[in-house]
Amino acid sequence: MGTEKRLGEEEGVSNHQFHTTRLTPSYRIDLRNPTNEYVDQFFNANQVSDWSNLSWKEIGKPYEVKSLASSKKEWEKKHGEMSVKTSWEFFNRSFHNWFVKDIPAELKNSKKQLLSYFSRFQLREVKHALGETARLSLWNYAHRIEDGVWDPRGKRALFEGLDVKKPRILFLGAAEGYEAMQLYAMYPEGEVVMVDYDEFCHTDRFGHFPTTYPFLGIDPATNHHKVWYKDQMNIHYMVEDIRNLPFGKEFDIVLSVGLLEHFPDEYKEAVMDWHRKFLKPGGYVIMTTPRLQLKSRLFYKIMADVMNHTYRELMDIRQMGLYVYEGGFNIKRHGYIKVHNGIVAQPR
Ligand SMILES: C[S@@+](CC[C@H](N)C(=O)[O-])C[C@H]1O[C@@H](n2cnc3c(N)ncnc32)[C@H](O)[C@@H]1O
Repeated sequence: MGTEKRLGEEEGVSNHQFHTTRLTPSYRIDLRNPTNEYVDQFFNANQVSDWSNLSWKEIGKPYEVKSLASSKKEWEKKHGEMSVKTSWEFFNRSFHNWFVKDIPAELKNSKKQLLSYFSRFQLREVKHALGETARLSLWNYAHRIEDGVWDPRGKRALFEGLDVKKPRILFLGAAEGYEAMQLYAMYPEGEVVMVDYDEFCHTDRFGHFPTTYPFLGIDPATNHHKVWYKDQMNIHYMVEDIRNLPFGKEFDIVLSVGLLEHFPDEYKEAVMDWHRKFLKPGGYVIMTTPRLQLKSRLFYKIMADVMNHTYRELMDIRQMGLYVYEGGFNIKRHGYIKVHNGIVAQPR
């Protein structure tokens, strides 16, 4: 990752580079629909018209993902129950490894190994190589081909149309910080504060996020589209527990991506409080959570060793919306993107 030449570094991004998409060995670059005019990837928006009419009895509770990573199970056999923070540390190291893979090269290698074990009747190794080939094929499809994890077009569709100028953006549980960088590109010249209590997220997940990855946004001088890179943005990364943040109500946007679903119901209200606590009057909360769908359930089953170190739920947009509504927010927009639900809300 990171060996790509930066588009337009010397020459300025030319129009033929906008509107295109292409694959690198680790991820997709997608510069389609630079003006956002045709961004249509925010589906089924606003299916609930009155959240006060919705009840848990009607919609049921989220689905809990029960399969756990074997590294967590082995650790717990020796040391007892793993703390939530340690679980995140396991998750972040494991997940990061997959973003930096040369996927076609690793797939070729794992298929070659599979055949060689097979020809020597090494059944244990065959089983392991089969699992690895399945995970690599799935990751290739879900992240590299489909771009379902980063999903820049879906995220831009979710983020568009906010009434903010040079916003201060707070990203809770930022990991590599992808979505705050996409927001910054669309609403530039403000400030991003990323918060994650796992130091590795600062040093490696964000630290090694490719400076060549183009985020589509706008040029504030001309209002035309422009590509932004990580190192052109005003970003501060804080390694801190969200519960210890020193801020007042000073942010225009508070963002989280894949946070709420990691807390059982007794903590959901507190998580919604974290989002409200640092928001200026009139500010926006933007949240996404993974969607409850058959292919997501399959994904977390096949990728259990890579992903499942923490408590995790899959929910539909009505369930997510009801948590947000009950947490004291008015929902401005709701819908889904490729693999996540998305909500833009404001405190009631
Ligand atoms: C599931 S990740 C977010 C999804 C992210 N987009 C990714 O690719 O991994 C949630 C992040 O929140 C962080 N986190 C969880 N609880 C936290 C807390 N109390 N304070 C700070 N960070 C926290 C974890 O370390 C983790 O990196």
